[in-house]
Amino acid sequence: MKKLRKAVFPVGGLGTRFLPATKAMPKEMLTVVDKPLIQYAVDEAREAGIEQMIFVTGRGKSAIEDHFDISYELETTMTDRGKSLDAISGTRFRPGEVIYVRQQEPIGLGHAIWCARHIVGDEPFAIFLPDELMAGSPGCMKQMVDAYEKVGGNIVCGYEVPESETHKYGVITPGRIDGRLVEVKALVEKPPQGTAPSNLMIPGRYILQPEVMRILEGQARGAGNEIQLTDAMSQMIGSQPFHAYAFDGRRFDCGDKAGFITANIALALDRPDIGPEVRRWMDANQ
Ligand code: UTP
Repeated sequence: MKKLRKAVFPVGGLGTRFLPATKAMPKEMLTVVDKPLIQYAVDEAREAGIEQMIFVTGRGKSAIEDHFDISYELETTMTDRGKSLDAISGTRFRPGEVIYVRQQEPIGLGHAIWCARHIVGDEPFAIFLPDELMAGSPGCMKQMVDAYEKVGGNIVCGYEVPESETHKYGVITPGRIDGRLVEVKALVEKPPQGTAPSNLMIPGRYILQPEVMRILEGQARGAGNEIQLTDAMSQMIGSQPFHAYAFDGRRFDCGDKAGFITANIALALDRPDIGPEVRRWMDANQ
């Protein structure tokens, strides 16, 4: 089994659900407490042992590149003033740790992933959708990598939602269950209410084998006239091992306004420096 070394971060989407905030600023740079979403994803990838980050970007996304660049002016000024650089220590990539690829038109997540095919090459790779914030210890991808090292193949994250919500998501049809590892028999996109084969939806974390790129290559547009990753993954079920790993932690859909606000409150409450003050305000304003 090949070690998982690479991760693709598709950040080429338009973020229309978050307008006007995302008119000139990438959705992935929205901050939860004091960190942009994209950095939560990169921190999670590093914890999972990922060595090479591949960002699939688009027009108007240069703030992401700047965020992970060295800012000599900022660092020099802070050092001269005796301020600690701890707050920005995770923002620097080592030389060669990151590669940027451009998705020239945002025609779907599947297309964004396919844009990274030459860099992924013949290796398994992880995918992070940075607008999904996965809070857990160990992190979501670390939990998935531990499972991957046991069973190999393809692993999607699975997250339990109430039955009343399954119609909003991609959901798995489960086979054999072994603890948190669930064999995937099929993927069902947005099942009508009351028909979902399980309550395990698929949030934005995947470990896939490189064959998915060959499927994406010839794939026609699907729902929303976009090239869909789910359609390509579905074609791999049966020919390669395919599991879901039921994540032990919390998921926040930060591409959605309510999910984003919830993430800010939940993570602020977790923080020893600001949590008590936020809680006091909440208690006083119930
Ligand atoms: P979303 O479905 O959230 O789409 O994409 P979006 O365009 O970002 O946001 P809305 O729905 O208009 O508000 C899920 C992930 O796939 C990436 C997005 O950047 C996000 O991380 N994506 C989507 C691309 O990189 N390219 C695409 O063509 C579409």
